[in-house]
Amino acid sequence: MKAYRIAALAVAASLMSALAYAQAKPEQQIEYRQSAMTVTARSVGVLSAMAKGDIPFNKDVAQQHAALIASISDLPLTAGAFGPGTDKGAPTKADPKVWSEADKFKAGYDKFIQAAKAMPAAAVDQKSLQAALGNLGKTCKGCHDDYRQK
Ligand code: HEC
Repeated sequence: MKAYRIAALAVAASLMSALAYAQAKPEQQIEYRQSAMTVTARSVGVLSAMAKGDIPFNKDVAQQHAALIASISDLPLTAGAFGPGTDKGAPTKADPKVWSEADKFKAGYDKFIQAAKAMPAAAVDQKSLQAALGNLGKTCKGCHDDYRQK
């Protein structure tokens, strides 16, 4: 009986720490979304260089960057990095409209996720990469125009 209670307590404690992690502080959420954007942008830059022919197309490298863009794309949203209360707490360029137009913002984000998840299938040759990157780039710009301050 006692052992059972201790085991139950241990499970409860680990659930609580998982919850604490999910409830990251606003400054951690801001840092997380900015980092995700930074990492995404670097990979987009490498793929753009390949699409333009500035560097030779390399399928293995292209696949690696495309997979990163795809897998990281929805994490800021699901982690609550643009959630309520993350409008301040650290320096941020996110426009207040992210929260006042939350539905519209999410719709823009969903378009981005869709374009990002299409990247791995497209990063197989230069031509399909160009087309997919064009789509992806439109979703970055579309959102930044409205929701990211200069
Ligand atoms: C749905 C909206 C949205 C989409 C889509 C989006 N961004 Fe952003 N991005 C933002 C917002 C808002 C910020 C400002 C975040 C902050 O400062 O808290 C930002 C910031 C950034 C930053 C600066 C990060 C920093 O360190 O301050 C980069 C770089 C960036 N985005 C690149 C991209 C690229 C590349 C794409 C597309 C592949 C993209 N973003 C798609 C909304 C978006």
